[in-house]
Amino acid sequence: MKELSRIAGEVRASTTLAVDSLAKQMQAEGLDVIGFGTGEPDFDTPDNIKAAAIKAINDGKTKYTPAAGLVDLRKAIATRLKIDLNTDYDFSQITVASGAKHSVFIALMAILNHGDEVILPAPYWVSYYEMIRMAGGNPLIIEAGEEQHFKITPEQLEKAIGSKTKAIILNNPSNPTGMLYSRSELEDIAEVCRKYDLYVISDEIYYSLVYDDREFVSFASLSDDAFERTIIINGVSKSYAMTGWRIGYAAANQQISKIMANYLSHSTGAPGTMNQFAAIEALSGPQDGVEAMRKVFEVRRNYIVKRINEIPGVSCIVPDGAFYVMMNIKQLIGKTLGGRLIENDDDFAVAFLEAGHVAVVPCSGFGAPGFVRWTYAASMENIREGLNRLEKFLQA
Ligand SMILES: Cc1ncc(COP(=O)(O)O)c(C=O)c1O
Repeated sequence: MKELSRIAGEVRASTTLAVDSLAKQMQAEGLDVIGFGTGEPDFDTPDNIKAAAIKAINDGKTKYTPAAGLVDLRKAIATRLKIDLNTDYDFSQITVASGAKHSVFIALMAILNHGDEVILPAPYWVSYYEMIRMAGGNPLIIEAGEEQHFKITPEQLEKAIGSKTKAIILNNPSNPTGMLYSRSELEDIAEVCRKYDLYVISDEIYYSLVYDDREFVSFASLSDDAFERTIIINGVSKSYAMTGWRIGYAAANQQISKIMANYLSHSTGAPGTMNQFAAIEALSGPQDGVEAMRKVFEVRRNYIVKRINEIPGVSCIVPDGAFYVMMNIKQLIGKTLGGRLIENDDDFAVAFLEAGHVAVVPCSGFGAPGFVRWTYAASMENIREGLNRLEKFLQA
């Protein structure tokens, strides 16, 4: 038979899902495995949001909507962004898609030509790398190590830019690192983007999960220039515990938004109509649930960071946002744990899962070898037990 698509053939399976599926397989075999793999809130979707979807179904809102999403939803998004991020978008600049992940993909399809480079600060969310490739682009990795708090500097950015560089993807606060850029750090990066005319895909899906009273600053709110060149990516998955509803969105200039809407209209169309009604309620209804969840995450973050730093052999720096922590395991390289020689973070994750019955994500796939990622979007009971198991696993 004829050759299949080379671009598609090069897409790698998600490392996050690989650990998760091994953990699920062990659980199915009856083993007591605790998962810290996938990043989704352990809370249920709030009742008022569920009720809005049920009402939509009962009212017969079960037909197609415009490809870019219901006008009322796009207006609700523009209003929420104005309140929370201080940006001024018309609803026509908003495109709704089937999750923030889908929005990133469509944004890349809208701006890239074959061979264009996209700057990707490492550690990065693994899907960005694959999506850049799927859209015909080439990821250009800039390393941001733990010593620089996993954040790139404007000097690094400027040095990396070449004639084919078209865009940068910034994820703030970040998955997997939990780091948050300050206003002045973002301003310095924005100045380089202006100088070299780069588009900025700013994935701000964790913006409501920021701790220690830190200020979240949206890239698009920095200046008129930043507003024009930024595509904000956002969604309801993380802030409203709605991962399964598949509603994400992008906010961009009119030209980009139009291309994204056209792209959606000929591929997926809009996400489920009743889910869009649920998202209107999430964004326009009471917001106290968002703050309540944020507070719970902050308590868990404080606990997990303290415990990790008390355990000999591992350490972590304090994440400012999202619900992830990067545990440094470099001191364990060369040791034998759970009967396995630990040569890298993949070995550690497998050994810890098989012998300690805890699933964490190795970070080599995120461009950060020597680290594993825990999520604290898990119950306090599970976090406590997971860390007890880590202690035991390292002592054995
Ligand atoms: C940085 C980042 N962007 C986007 C997403 C995906 O969000 P959604 O569920 O809305 O597709 C995730 C989920 O893990 C994420 O970590």
